[in-house]
Amino acid sequence: MKLPFLIALLASIYIEDGTFVSISDQVFSVTPGTDEEVEIIKNLTSKDEIELCHPDSAHNIKINSDVHLYMNVSDLDFVKDLLHKNGINYKIMVENVQELIEMQTNKESSGPRSFKGSFYEQYHPLEEIYFWINKISHEHPDMLEIILIGSSFEKRPLYVLKLTGRRNSPRRAMWIDCGIHSREWISPAFCIWFVQNAIDSYNKNPEITQMLDNMEIYVLPVMNADGYVYTWTTRRMWRKNRSRYEGSNCIGTDLNRNFDAGWCTKGASHNPCDHTYCGPYPESEPEVSAVAKFLREKKDSMKLYFTIHSYGQMLLFPYSYSYNQAPNHDELQHLADEATQQIRRYYRTRYISGPGATTIYLAPGGSDDWAYDLGIKYSFTIELRDTGSYGFLLPPQLIQPTCLEVLTAIKTITRHVIKNT
Ligand code: ARG
Ligand code: ZN
Repeated sequence: MKLPFLIALLASIYIEDGTFVSISDQVFSVTPGTDEEVEIIKNLTSKDEIELCHPDSAHNIKINSDVHLYMNVSDLDFVKDLLHKNGINYKIMVENVQELIEMQTNKESSGPRSFKGSFYEQYHPLEEIYFWINKISHEHPDMLEIILIGSSFEKRPLYVLKLTGRRNSPRRAMWIDCGIHSREWISPAFCIWFVQNAIDSYNKNPEITQMLDNMEIYVLPVMNADGYVYTWTTRRMWRKNRSRYEGSNCIGTDLNRNFDAGWCTKGASHNPCDHTYCGPYPESEPEVSAVAKFLREKKDSMKLYFTIHSYGQMLLFPYSYSYNQAPNHDELQHLADEATQQIRRYYRTRYISGPGATTIYLAPGGSDDWAYDLGIKYSFTIELRDTGSYGFLLPPQLIQPTCLEVLTAIKTITRHVIKNT
């Protein structure tokens, strides 16, 4: 028996009349071929139990480009029926969502598919991340400092780790934030892995040593703390934060549409019910204003900005709010090309690179563009693995390779920035 079929069987119950009924949520990939099909799929995404995974917003659903839909088990029959009736082809990308979620949350899963990696090869709920921040800082007081930069809408603390080498304080600084979008679990896992790897490699690996000796590194492991908790407790595919404003029953602002950079122009939404709601005004969200305030204070030394997202395997740079080329576009493109080549050397993983607007779509109010316009001339969004096979449900076995390959890109870019600033 072929493996996909075996997995399909696991996710299904065979009933008397000869049909299989899924017992788990599923992720579909559909590719609309006509305007009419685009409309049908857009309509589907307005249902509450159907979650759009790719693209980020229904406005970006277009003819001949793939759409990834997360579907509640209760809707599967209805949706499959609807797609069949309209002659729309679909592919099941994740047959058994439940199984992947169990792998990610490390619940007692037994059998050949279970995996027991180290702390850094697992996903962690927020309390465990807070515990780790404290623990590792106490273990390495010479290299780490905890900075409280603000709190979330639901009043959770936002901690930044300041990571330095043991030599004189460098005049440059860089920033990495993770977890702007709560469902992108590989992103906080990256920040955690990165800090640990840097501490371990300092004075052993020359590139990491050079990086830490020449830059203060500020790492925010989970920017969207409230959303992250919500994905662990209630709704795995939640993207926004958990803020709420008068006048709407819908919850959440897209933190990556709330920065003051072309705020809420084409590519973001004024509707609080949308995935890409820009918030009532720029920096309305406490998570965004905390980060913006911190970066403004450090702007003279801050030379390099990274924000870590998933999924898509992309290295993006400004602009995303406009089709205009960034002043140092050629330098950024060249650097990004070099970095993606380094990524490929490990496991042949292909990352694409370019300005956000032309590489994916217009998406204003993003942190990378804002940081760039603040004066941080090296500003990147990294969309980690994969391209949709697992999507946001990337198994824990893939944390380590995903982080390793991207670290080479970060090293390449950092080396360039140290040389040129
Ligand atoms: N998928 C990310 C988003 O939609 C892409 C971010 C690219 N940068 C940006 N400023 N939009 O938020
Ligand atoms: Zn994202």
